[in-house]
Amino acid sequence: MFNNGWRKPSDVMSNYLDRIGAGWVLANPEVFNFDYIPAELVGRSDVQNELAAKFATLHSAEGSGRVVITGPVGCGKTVLARTFCRDIQRHLANKRNIRSVHVNCRNASTSMRVVQRILHELAPGHPDRGLSMGELLMSLRRILRKETSHMIVVLDEVDHMLRRSGDDLLYQLLRIDEDQSGKGTLSLILISQEQVLDVLETAVISRMGSTNHLRIQPYSSDGLEAIATQRAIDGLVPGTWSPEIIRLLAEKAAPTGDARRVIELLNAAVERCEFRQDDHSERRLTVEDIHLPLENSPTTLGSNLEHIDDLNSNAMLVLLSLCRRLTKQESMTTGDVEQLYAVVCEEYEQKMKSHTTVWKYLKEFEERQIITSRVATITGGRGRTTHLSMPHYLPKDLSSRLEMLLKKKFR
Ligand SMILES: Nc1ncnc2c1ncn2[C@@H]1O[C@H](COP(=O)(O)OP(=O)(O)OP(=O)(O)O)[C@@H](O)[C@H]1O
Ligand SMILES: [Mg+2]
Repeated sequence: MFNNGWRKPSDVMSNYLDRIGAGWVLANPEVFNFDYIPAELVGRSDVQNELAAKFATLHSAEGSGRVVITGPVGCGKTVLARTFCRDIQRHLANKRNIRSVHVNCRNASTSMRVVQRILHELAPGHPDRGLSMGELLMSLRRILRKETSHMIVVLDEVDHMLRRSGDDLLYQLLRIDEDQSGKGTLSLILISQEQVLDVLETAVISRMGSTNHLRIQPYSSDGLEAIATQRAIDGLVPGTWSPEIIRLLAEKAAPTGDARRVIELLNAAVERCEFRQDDHSERRLTVEDIHLPLENSPTTLGSNLEHIDDLNSNAMLVLLSLCRRLTKQESMTTGDVEQLYAVVCEEYEQKMKSHTTVWKYLKEFEERQIITSRVATITGGRGRTTHLSMPHYLPKDLSSRLEMLLKKKFR
């Protein structure tokens, strides 16, 4: 009896490790790595065109470009610069030898460290210890000239360096050609979040050329949907996800406009779905998978179910009808609401409120961020339908609370 439930350690090990590499849902884990660079950016062709325009002369021997990219967190600044440097090297492969170096100034926050990183990228064995800034810059110049390469230097999160070391290095880099007859040895891309723009100062921006300031907007829910769809196609087993579940994730991340957030939410949903897999479970992301993880994150409103306690009982009946449908389905139409509301009223023996009142409740739910609405044109038809979803709450939890509250009210 002492041995009840006891198994050889190796059995236990292999059991709990079975999940690793099982990949019921996840086909390519690297798609969710923080440094994964997609084959293409989605929905950013206008920004990409604008960036390319700043480098219009790069194909010619003396051409160079400079640009300052700013925008809120997760709007794709880093990935924009990385894909640009990757693509331009291929594009000009037969015309010019282009190299690039991407330095994150949060990790290399002094101008000395930044130059060391650049040099290290160009010539990995180059000694940098004990060399002065001037000497390092001279080496940089010499190597580039010898190789007849053009170098694109990307200083990401450049505000960290500016704060520690000022903007001197920027001027040095921009003047790298001054002692020679040639031009166009180096291009410069500076990246910073919009909120820290003051550190970048007008001086830096004007030095780079105020027309070279590229401002990026946060993503809309449509943009986030496109990004999450791309990751799902690249990373997940076909048939384990639906466009509707991706839409719901996009709406959940929409208040932030942050692409990283929607990718994290998808990753967490996938982990959750993998975790609950056994021989009988559904191999598909569900509404529950997208709500349960990351509940303590600040952008998730869902933890606070009491948020609905002050609704009047008629509004509660409407909301209950929504919750019941959204437990099984990612979104529903306003037409569905009326139908289901009728059923709920019958169940609670209450008289139905008018169409206008129901509409008013729906508006109120939206204002309070209990639901999200989206107007879509019916494909092939003329009409427009309003789709409702509940990205910040698990509908099942809300409906249990509503049933409890309604029971008290109508007892
Ligand atoms: N248009 C896009 N297409 C595909 N993936 C994208 C796109 N925009 C952003 N991403 C992805 O979203 C994540 C966040 O993007 P990125 O790191 O470029 O944002 P950022 O603006 O540099 O954020 P931060 O201000 O925090 O540095 C990355 O994983 C990136 O690959
Ligand atoms: Mg970045």
